Amino acid sequence: MSIDAPPAANEVRQQAARRRTFAIISHPDAGKTTLTEKFLLYGGALTAGAGSVKAKRDRRATATDWMELERRRGISVTSAVVQFGYRDRVLNLLDTPGHGDFSEDTYRVLSAVDAAVMVLDGAKGIEAQTRKLFEVCRNREIPIVTFINKWDRPARDPLELLDEIEDQLVLDPVPVTWPVGDGGRFSGLIDRRAGHFVRFTRTAGGTTAAGEEIVVSAQAETEEGTAWAEAQEAIELLDAAGAELDVKRFEAGELSPVFFGSALTNFGVRLLLDAIIDMAPAPAARLDADGDPRPVDAGFSAVVFKVQSNMDPAHRDRMAFLRVCSGRFERGMAITSGRTGKTLATKYAHTVVGRDRSTAEDAWPGDVIGLVNAADLRVGDAVHTAREPVRWTPVPAFAPSSFRLARCTDTSKAKQFRSGVRQLDSEGVVQVLRRPEGSESAPILAAVGPLQFDVAEHRLRHEFGAPVELAPAPWTAARRTDEASAAALGAMSGVTVAARDDGELLALFESPYWLARLQSDHPDLTLERLIGEG
Ligand code: G4P
Repeated sequence: MSIDAPPAANEVRQQAARRRTFAIISHPDAGKTTLTEKFLLYGGALTAGAGSVKAKRDRRATATDWMELERRRGISVTSAVVQFGYRDRVLNLLDTPGHGDFSEDTYRVLSAVDAAVMVLDGAKGIEAQTRKLFEVCRNREIPIVTFINKWDRPARDPLELLDEIEDQLVLDPVPVTWPVGDGGRFSGLIDRRAGHFVRFTRTAGGTTAAGEEIVVSAQAETEEGTAWAEAQEAIELLDAAGAELDVKRFEAGELSPVFFGSALTNFGVRLLLDAIIDMAPAPAARLDADGDPRPVDAGFSAVVFKVQSNMDPAHRDRMAFLRVCSGRFERGMAITSGRTGKTLATKYAHTVVGRDRSTAEDAWPGDVIGLVNAADLRVGDAVHTAREPVRWTPVPAFAPSSFRLARCTDTSKAKQFRSGVRQLDSEGVVQVLRRPEGSESAPILAAVGPLQFDVAEHRLRHEFGAPVELAPAPWTAARRTDEASAAALGAMSGVTVAARDDGELLALFESPYWLARLQSDHPDLTLERLIGEG
């Protein structure tokens, strides 16, 4: 830090240092929503049982003014952020859409966080969606804190769960806390750092913080019986295996501190939140498209990580979600789109908390703001002050696993269909692929989750006036290939080669079995995994 830095830069650095911007990655039902509620409870942002997140879960029954499609399906197609204070810090928890609304947006959110909490169900361990999301984190080298949840219910052997993390994710798990007992006998956690036992008491319905009592080992040994002896045995094994925290390896995404607990009863939630504050990195310099770090105290800049259309059908607006990367954002300031050079109005900037919008007066590195009617902004775009143009490295396209054959059902609307498809492709709503012999009127649409097709169909029909049919397509997996291999693959059965607009060639397979077979029979073929391949 230079001594003669202007006070404004000092303030930006201080505000950035107070922030932790993270996401929760998990398989559906592992407890993401419950844990989010409990974070808000511990952050003092939520009163018992009446939280915004709970409302999210109950939204099937509630009338919202959001996108028609969302209402029809009763699910959210929007990833929002919850911001809450904890200790003297500000936490921004970005929602990664899951369940039926799992889509490329789920992955893109991870381009805007500095850390992730990986929640596992203690009875299930690593599941398909955890693995896919983890792959995206790994690609970005995002530090991951692991929370093994639902320890109040019968769970698997904790050592076996650690082995699974190590084997399946090639991630070094280092337990920071260790459970004493499980299921109905789960009484507390040994904090390996402090060497003491934290005993919890349940509160009615888990609506207030769990009671905590620090118990010294000698006392715990007499009071906790065999559960204590078993936990001690496991800890001795961990110590002997040298399972120690290494901050550098954590920050590089190679090692994950592991916490056990129960989001439902609040056991272990405080220890986890403390770890997010104490271990997860604060917003730091972001690399621009030239690979140069842009420090947090540089002039205002942000990255667009999601664009949500038509959130409010009455206004047909479009909201771009931006994560502040550097500088201070003040409502009303003039900002420029890095890609188009156009000036954007920020008079109606919002912070987005759950479904509620409130006007954002200012925001600091790590915070998320929503800009309404920023029609030209696309995912990955930079916005900045007029004086300091910035460009970020593009957000990659992720491994699609769902495919459809698109066709305009009204031939008089072919032109609208073509321009609509191009627009959706450029916005990243779906990936658009074409076979060498294919025409512009029959593209292949590819997506991470089927919800993307619903959004594409809805927008083509209502925004571009092009009624479409999206027919099921036979493929289930894609690999990146090159010109030379494409020629050979094109002559084989059970595989289709198609090109994206950016020139990337993808080989599409009808079955994973066939893909594996081709790979073993033709090891010379280029068939690279794409990001997010579970
Ligand atoms: P998700 O967002 O990851 O999909 O999971 P969510 O929090 O909705 O939790 C899925 C189910 O698991 C919920 O039960 C929730 O109460 C339960 N759950 C979450 N954490 C714990 C935990 O620590 N212990 C136990 N025993 N259960 C947990 P549900 O019956 O599907 O919903 P609800 O009626 O309880 O809301």
